[in-house]
Amino acid sequence: MQIAIDGPAGAGKSSAAKEVARRLGFKYLDTGAMYRAITVMALAQKVNSQDEEELANLVKSCELEIQDDAEKGNLILLNGKDITEEIRSPQVNQTVSIVAASPGVRKGLVHLQRKVAANSGNIVMEGRDIGSNVLINADFKFYLSANLEERARRRWLEMQEKGIEITFDTILTEIATRDRLDQEREDSPLCIAKDAYVIDTTNYTLAEVVDMILMTVTSAKKVPGS
Ligand code: DC
Repeated sequence: MQIAIDGPAGAGKSSAAKEVARRLGFKYLDTGAMYRAITVMALAQKVNSQDEEELANLVKSCELEIQDDAEKGNLILLNGKDITEEIRSPQVNQTVSIVAASPGVRKGLVHLQRKVAANSGNIVMEGRDIGSNVLINADFKFYLSANLEERARRRWLEMQEKGIEITFDTILTEIATRDRLDQEREDSPLCIAKDAYVIDTTNYTLAEVVDMILMTVTSAKKVPGS
């Protein structure tokens, strides 16, 4: 079974997808982490985030490994180095949507994501274009959203817990910019797949969102309209 979970930054995708996968005993893949890994590499090698050819070459030349981890969900290894923490830095947050708009980067990573799905059996995959592009035939598709202020508040709390000093307004502006870039790019933009269940998580706890997803999946209603 394939479960696709999409939505904008801070909508609660990662936490919900990780927990749904754990409860069902499915594999979990955070595709945003893959775009972040390429961004880490682009920043380290000082590749211009608008240089299409150089970015595509990065994806071709790197060795990206994603391992399961009971606590973190996924461990991200780039050329053998664990960069699981590094991919969440403020600098990566600011650049990742630009890198992710590159068709060459998307082509390479989507190929890898489909390969993981084909080799995994049951999987929960989360991102921006999973239900609308990567796993178009997924058994269940969910689109999680929440209002901008709430999403910024969640990200700000996460940063506080990690001891990263950043203002709420900076995060709010950054998320609004990423929303725009992710929704307006030409290649597989963030959108709601026509057969997705939409959940506005603004007023729900993580546990409630997980329950909604699990109830839909276990009552085997499949995608709306099918
Ligand atoms: O979910 P996240 O915030 O870690 O994702 C980081 C960026 O990667 C996000 O701004 C857009 C991009 N992304 C994408 O374009 N397609 C995906 N399937 C997943 C993420």
